[in-house]
Amino acid sequence: MAEVETALTGHIHSEAEFVTTAARHLMDAGGKRFRPLLVLLAAETGPTAASDDVITAACVVELTHLASLYHDDVMDEAALRRGADSANARWDNHVAILTGDFLFSKSSELTADLGADAVRIQARTFTKLVEGQILETLEPGPDADPIEHHLRVVAGKTGSLIATSALYGARFGGAPRELEDALATYGEIVGMAFQLSDDILDIASESDESGKTPGTDLREGVPTLPVLLAQRSSDPADDRLKELLAGDLDDDALLEETLGLLRAHPAMEEARAYVVSRATEAKNLLKVLPEGPVRTALEAFADVVATRTA
Ligand code: FPP
Ligand code: MG
Repeated sequence: MAEVETALTGHIHSEAEFVTTAARHLMDAGGKRFRPLLVLLAAETGPTAASDDVITAACVVELTHLASLYHDDVMDEAALRRGADSANARWDNHVAILTGDFLFSKSSELTADLGADAVRIQARTFTKLVEGQILETLEPGPDADPIEHHLRVVAGKTGSLIATSALYGARFGGAPRELEDALATYGEIVGMAFQLSDDILDIASESDESGKTPGTDLREGVPTLPVLLAQRSSDPADDRLKELLAGDLDDDALLEETLGLLRAHPAMEEARAYVVSRATEAKNLLKVLPEGPVRTALEAFADVVATRTA
């Protein structure tokens, strides 16, 4: 991971000093480096885990992710990211969007070094990621189940890149094809669990834990699993919560009241239990791996995602 970190800093250098500053802003602010870590871990299932291509693939997924955060904060009008001002808050939307584009271009350049198959995988991943992000802004059709729609969104916007992180790891680590498939599916499910945990934290956490402004999803009207579960309730005790959720939550007092009601609602536990069940499903896919430290680490990785508090 130290090598990945050094490589990342080199890759986001631009001839234009301001572009380097804007691109380094969120990278330097922190981040869990969850996706590159998964690339490195998955690579350990094969004989060439220490190859340069593994490091390059780890940079590709982190840069794609970082790019998407610049754009995401514009869409969400978010003020905070990784405990720092978001790029749109520190500069403006134009800077944030173009810096995201710059990072995505850098990621694409690096992917070309990995060969045509990697370019194809990256392009397909990005298609799914953007489709998921767009789908989130659309209402599910009248006959569609809102929770199913939401899970499709999550699989697209977050599961896709984390699936590719595991797949790249297996591919460039030299693992056999059947392991690639199992790890890609594992990655997609762990990625979904990661996003669903993140959405639970948006309700449950304080901003000094998450580095983001709690309640952003609610304020922006972005549906998340606990909200969708609470909205299904027919208990009259939930009428106030449902009324608040159906309204505009731009007002700070109304947002606080909604957060308070949701934090105490059984839908939170139900959502957490769902996340744990997905992590178990992901871990079961690892049975194709021999028992040992790599499998144990990948199991632990799924557990950490399901129970994370930041
Ligand atoms: C986080 O969602 C957002 C994503 C996982 C993907 C966002 C993707 C785009 C905006 C398209 C990117 C386009 C390019 C060119 C890179 P969230 O808002 O639920 O998470 P948060 O709580 O971390 O903000
Ligand atoms: Mg966001």
